[in-house]
Amino acid sequence: MGIVAHPSPRGEGGDGRVSAHPGGAEPRYKAISSGPPPHPARTCRRESPSPRGEASRVSLTAEKAPFTVAFADLEPRERYKLLCATVVPRPIALVTSVGSDGVVNAAPFSFFNVFSEDPPLIVLGLQHKPEEARKDTTRNIAETGVFVVNLVDEALAEGMNICAIDFPPEESEIEAARLELLPGVDVAVPRIAQAPFALECRRTVALAFGPQRELLVGEVLRLHAREGLMDPSRLRVDMDAYHPVGRLFADGYARQRDRFELKRESYDEWRARREL
Ligand SMILES: Cc1cc2nc3c(=O)[nH]c(=O)nc-3n(C[C@H](O)[C@H](O)[C@H](O)COP(=O)(O)O)c2cc1C
Repeated sequence: MGIVAHPSPRGEGGDGRVSAHPGGAEPRYKAISSGPPPHPARTCRRESPSPRGEASRVSLTAEKAPFTVAFADLEPRERYKLLCATVVPRPIALVTSVGSDGVVNAAPFSFFNVFSEDPPLIVLGLQHKPEEARKDTTRNIAETGVFVVNLVDEALAEGMNICAIDFPPEESEIEAARLELLPGVDVAVPRIAQAPFALECRRTVALAFGPQRELLVGEVLRLHAREGLMDPSRLRVDMDAYHPVGRLFADGYARQRDRFELKRESYDEWRARREL
């Protein structure tokens, strides 16, 4: 049985689905178990019409057998599709940087995370443009060595998305997204006033992984919090007031509204609970 991951028609992202493809060319990768032959993909109709009155169709692929694939057998685009759909939700860094011409740039990056606290490091995955030209963010940080990571909440999500548009150099995404800037304290890069949190950063190292990818490690020099989000005496973030947005894949995002607690036990606590 062949399983074919259909490449996304879109450049950035993709829909993240991997579907059974019973016929066609020689399979390049296989399901783990050789179960019964796959059912043809089914389409079912939702019971009630959508709010807009259309009968929306939900495509159900019946075959969702365990699956494994070697990344060496995949095209980069297919690897991107699988990684972006499975490592979710990813936090979003809306990075502000300044070019040598003094123009302030803002762009979102979801290949982003915190890496350590001592030293305090964050990482960004910067992809180059198809013709291997660096993005404005990548070029600016290479030139100045400093940038600001503005974190993205629900109120900032739409502005963040406008900043992902490839504007011509003479047009400012900050103005288009109606964002306001506040001056940096430790770096000569402004932060976004609407951002819930902003991290002023200095480049530690930039590593090139192939012609298309750069991994940027940055040291956090300072954190800014918008009013109403932090208890400064205890350095506690008010999670009822902070509504971060995570990226799923393609145009999909996640809110963080359904929180739950899982107490982390010591070995003795775990044993005592088992022996009850
Ligand atoms: C939510 C979101 C996340 C993104 N994450 C990344 C990323 O991790 N790496 C990357 O190279 N581009 C990413 N992009 C695309 C860049 O934001 C986009 O190419 C942008 O135009 C770059 O702008 P710049 O040339 O001003 O730096 C992302 C876009 C969106 C909407």
